[in-house]
This record gives sequence, structure tokens and C-alpha cells, in this order.
Amino acid sequence: MHSERIQFQNYEEKVISAHEASLFFKDKMTVGTSGFTKAGDSKAVLPAFAERAKEEEIAITLITGASLGHTTDADLAQNNALYKRMPFQVDPTLRKKINDGSILFVDQHLSETVELLENKHLPKMDLAVLEAAYIDENGNIIPTTSVGNSVTFAHLAEKIIIEINLSIPMNFKGIHDIYLPEPYPNRKPLDITASSERIGQDFISIDPQKVIGVVFTEIPDSPAQVVAPDEKTTAIAGHLLAFFEKEIADGRLTKSLLPLQAGIGKVANAVMSGLGKGDFENLEMYSEVLQDSTFELIDSGKMNFASASSLTVSQNCYAHILNNFELYKDKILLRPQQISNSAEVIRRLGIIAINTAIEFDIYGNVNSTHLGGTKMMNGIGGSGDFARNAYLSIFVTQSASKEDNAISHVLPMVSHVDHTEHDVDILVTDQGLADLRGLAPRERAQVIINNCVHPDYKETLQHYFERASERGGHTPHILEEAFAMHTRFNQTGTMKELVLEELA
Ligand code: COA
Repeated sequence: MHSERIQFQNYEEKVISAHEASLFFKDKMTVGTSGFTKAGDSKAVLPAFAERAKEEEIAITLITGASLGHTTDADLAQNNALYKRMPFQVDPTLRKKINDGSILFVDQHLSETVELLENKHLPKMDLAVLEAAYIDENGNIIPTTSVGNSVTFAHLAEKIIIEINLSIPMNFKGIHDIYLPEPYPNRKPLDITASSERIGQDFISIDPQKVIGVVFTEIPDSPAQVVAPDEKTTAIAGHLLAFFEKEIADGRLTKSLLPLQAGIGKVANAVMSGLGKGDFENLEMYSEVLQDSTFELIDSGKMNFASASSLTVSQNCYAHILNNFELYKDKILLRPQQISNSAEVIRRLGIIAINTAIEFDIYGNVNSTHLGGTKMMNGIGGSGDFARNAYLSIFVTQSASKEDNAISHVLPMVSHVDHTEHDVDILVTDQGLADLRGLAPRERAQVIINNCVHPDYKETLQHYFERASERGGHTPHILEEAFAMHTRFNQTGTMKELVLEELA
């Protein structure tokens, strides 16, 4: 059965069904699975475990690379199969359970999870489920569309289940750069001085003694939803591209910029697509996710190389890459997320990091994770890994959202801080761009209010800033009013100051 997919003799007898594999899960286990931004996740074993949990009281701590695809996180959450989840998720059902307190969630920098595991700050890993294209003649696995945390899971887990995905062609080899850093205190420098530099092997080493099952699946990754640029994302992309052009004109950057990191989503895609139309050349990415726009840039000859931890692309782009793999094989690398998001490499390469904020404040502190200060949205993901160490740390968001611009995304004080003002260089909204480099808090506030705030909120924020400044302080605030806009939104459904006629 699929002998080319299991080239290691001893594994043939280990082929089992997804249901049989799910029986290895025990209550309170810590399980690690492949999967990063919906790519390369378990599509047979985890769903079978979710199904089993419908009938049985059983819950695990689940650690992944990042988000899972299809309805896996939703089904696990719905069937109470999760006690604790880390380090990232994007699923509405799981999010609801996290926010009602029934599932614990640890929101972690994506580079950090395996450091905690390797150094025994987290419970030992009982089981790992790892997606593979095939098992080579030595029993090692060729990963699929993501690497995530799988290398460390394979290293640490007591038992391993390999999930072979037949939808990934056999030639899908050579784009993975697998490297496991040495333990402390003998860790060596990561010898990456360019996005294209390879430091490891193109397979994940597996100890055959640990393998308790091999499962087959044919289900492809969940496709990414590519949202066409709208007025706001186009405006944000326009401001950012104009900024890059000015940096080039002023001699701080060349037309190749510096390696780019871009978060997932419509703004990042709009910015990256904009780069394709502008006067840029020989671009590179050193990011955590490669999206459709990366491949458009490679196809148009504007991008030379892209390194990340996963491929999260639309259905068409996915098929195009798999069918034309030889075209891209020498232009992309997928690495473990502790390498794609390594502080050391990000600082060395001089990354331009572009991430999305939920809200930011007049001094430049950024909230990427919590709605209204309490409700988890997705998680910090890799934004902190990149923002703290980038050459330029850029955050983008819409200036206002919802009907009648009921929510301002620029506030006196953020309701939760993920990225402090110290880690933020440039803020961009559809209104404009605030270049905060070298500015003191009072200067930052004025530039942010002038350039980024929606007109409906400008007067309110200017008034707040002026009155706060009269009270003094290095970072002027009126603490009893700092969350007034959030409070007003909770009470009235809008952050705007309602006049008496509107209340009547
Ligand atoms: N109260 C209630 N809702 C609020 C709010 C508040 N104070 N502030 C914002 N919102 C709502 C917005 O209105 C919007 O709702 P809508 O979708 O109904 O319009 C929603 O929160 C945010 O949506 P949007 O701005 O469209 O978000 P996005 O899809 O661009 O994603 C993040 C933004 C921040 C959630 C997302 O980028 C993320 O999870 N980032 C963290 C991870 C990361 O950066 N990873 C790095 C690389 S992948």
C-alpha cells in the first residue's frame, strides 16, 4: 500500500486507521501536532480524536505551530476535547470557549513555545502527530506545507504518529531547512546571513522506536481566503509604499528594501501586491507565512527569494505551486518557527516587519490580541518576535470600523498591550502614516493624532492630549479618562461622544 510513501521497511506494519490512532490519546495528555496557519496540520488523526471526544470525557493540552485548518479546532472545542491550547488559534468556536473560560489558552510568541518545551518549562510531551509527504528509507519524514514546531515535537515526544498526506506530490522535497538548535549553554549562532541561506537538512529526523502508527489521508490544506483590496486597505498600502519610496529617495533603503515580513490578511496582501506595481526590484522575504502575493512577486520577477515557516495560500495558488513545484523549489525555504522567527536572525538581516494591530494608542503602544481589553481574538502570533527585533517595525490598522465608524482604532490608551511604544517605529491607517522614529512621547502623540486618527475622533483625541499635557508628565495621561472611549462603546455601542438629542 503506497509503498513509495513508506520507504522505511519497518513502518509498513504500523499503518493504522485514524480512529485507531485516536485511541492512543489519553485524558490529560500533552499532545503536539504539526500545523501552522492552517498549513500542514493533522487532517485525519486530530479530527478522529475530536469525534471520539463526542462520546467520552477526555481532554488534552494541545500544542501546535499556530492555527489549524478546516474545522479541527472548532470540533475539538465543541466536544470539550481541549483542556489547554497553545500557542495561537483563529477559530471562532474555540475563541468563544477561551473567552467564556472553559478552555485555557496560552498566547505565546511563536518562536518561544519550543524553547519552553526543550528547557522543561512545560509538561513533557506525550504524543506528537506530524503530517508528512512521505517517510524516507531511513525512517525520517519529509514535511509538507509547514514546518512549525514539528522538529522539536519529533525530538521530545514519547510517541509519534505520522500522518502521510497523499495530496502532496512525492517531489515536494528540498524546500525545508530543518535545524534543531543545540541545548543551552552550548548553543551556536544561527548561520543565516541571507534569507536564502540554508543551515539544515531537508527532512525531519525521527526515532523509529517512537513511532506507534502511520495514518494516510488525502485531504488538502484549508485554502486561505484572499480578500480583494478595498478602499481602506488600498489607502493603507498607498501610504506605506509612498513611505518606502521616500526612504529610497533619502538613501536609507535601496529599491530592494530589506527582507520583508508581512502578517496574514488583506492589508498585508494589499501592501505586497502594491510592491509588485512599484519601482522595486530583487525583493526578499524572511517571514513566517508565505501568501499568494509572495508568489505573484516571484512570478513577476520582483522577488528573488522567500523564507518562512508555512505556505498559506488560496486554492488556485496552492494548485499552481504543487503543479509547478520545480519553478519555485529554488526560491523558497520553509523552516522551523523558532528559526523563521529567531530574534538573532531578524536583527541580523534587518527585517522590515509589517503586522496588523487591533488598536493602538496616541503614544504608539499596540494591542494585537484583545477586544475591549478582555476578549481574546487570535493571539500575538509572530508579531512580537518580529516587532521587537526588526529594522523597521510597522503596524497597520483601519482608523475606524463598524457602522457610522462606531469604533476608533486609535485610542488614548490601549486596553491591552502586546507591543510597547519602544518596539513600534511606524503606524499606518487609511488616514495616513506616523513616522515615530526618534520622537519623544509628546511628539509621537501629535504626529499620530494628525496623521492616523479618523476625522470623527480627531477632536476628542486632541482634546484629551491637550488636557493631559497640562497635567504634566513624560507620557501625559488622565487615568480616570484613559478608557472612556472603550467604556462608552460598551455602554452605548459607539465610541463617539453622544450629544443629548441623540440620546433622547
Ligand atoms: N471592541 C470590539 N470590537 C473591536 C474593537 C473593540 N474595542 N476594536 C476592534 N474591533 C473589531 C473590529 O471592528 C473588527 O471587526 P469586524 O471584523 O466586524 O470589522 C475586528 O475587531 C478586527 O478586525 P480587522 O481589523 O478586520 O482585523 P484583521 O482581520 O485585519 O486582523 C488582527 C487583525 C490584529 C486580529 C490580526 O492581524 C491578528 O490576529 N494579529 C495578531 C497575530 C499576528 O500579528 N501575527 C503576525 C504574523 S501572521
